Amino acid sequence: MNIVVANLKGGVGKTTSAVYLSAAAVARGHEPVLLVDADRQASSAVWLEERALDGVTVVEAPSERTLVRAMKHDEGVVVVDTPPGDERIVQAAINGADAVVIPTRAGGVEFPRVAVTLEMIPKATPRGIVIASARLGTNDLDETVAWWKSQDVPIWGIVPERVAIAAGPESRLYREGLEQYDAVLRRALRKR
Ligand SMILES: Nc1ncnc2c1ncn2[C@@H]1O[C@H](COP(=O)(O)OP(=O)(O)OP(=O)(O)O)[C@@H](O)[C@H]1O
Ligand SMILES: [Mg+2]
Repeated sequence: MNIVVANLKGGVGKTTSAVYLSAAAVARGHEPVLLVDADRQASSAVWLEERALDGVTVVEAPSERTLVRAMKHDEGVVVVDTPPGDERIVQAAINGADAVVIPTRAGGVEFPRVAVTLEMIPKATPRGIVIASARLGTNDLDETVAWWKSQDVPIWGIVPERVAIAAGPESRLYREGLEQYDAVLRRALRKR
């Protein structure tokens, strides 16, 4: 089961989502969990170097060749963190995906990049949006939810903005984040 976290836009919560989804997969008993870091910046790999996660092995795969090989791993759950901007590698990841999780921020400026990412996903591949770092109760959030509903794109999660999530590897994974990403994981797995 390959879960690919992708959005061509940078800084939308891909790495955070990939790490939390990996931890949620372990908590659900989907070991072994392999976190494949296809980003040259190696943010997931650096995160796990700073703070290891029980049951999660990380592999760096910054090229199409290494990525395709890492995704052939056929045990447990594989979560793939992808880089922003690099359409070739994002497409390679998406081509091997059983489900695609698209983190995005609330706000209309984000829609076009998500639309481009959605167009890269084969019709039959389940996909869902995660609104990361969401400010609950704002118009921006309400409008974003309404927009994706109108486009018939499922929202698999809304993860509130939290200091403890923004702390990344400097802090332990935050319980509320784990709960939200567990819900995302269940949706990604159910859609198979
Ligand atoms: N729920 C949240 N609450 C608070 N901050 C968050 C949340 N989710 C993500 N962030 C913060 O948003 C920023 C961008 O997140 P992240 O690095 O995961 O994005 P990315 O899409 O992987 O970025 P890049 O495209 O550079 O790889 C980080 O500072 C991260 O800590
Ligand atoms: Mg990242």
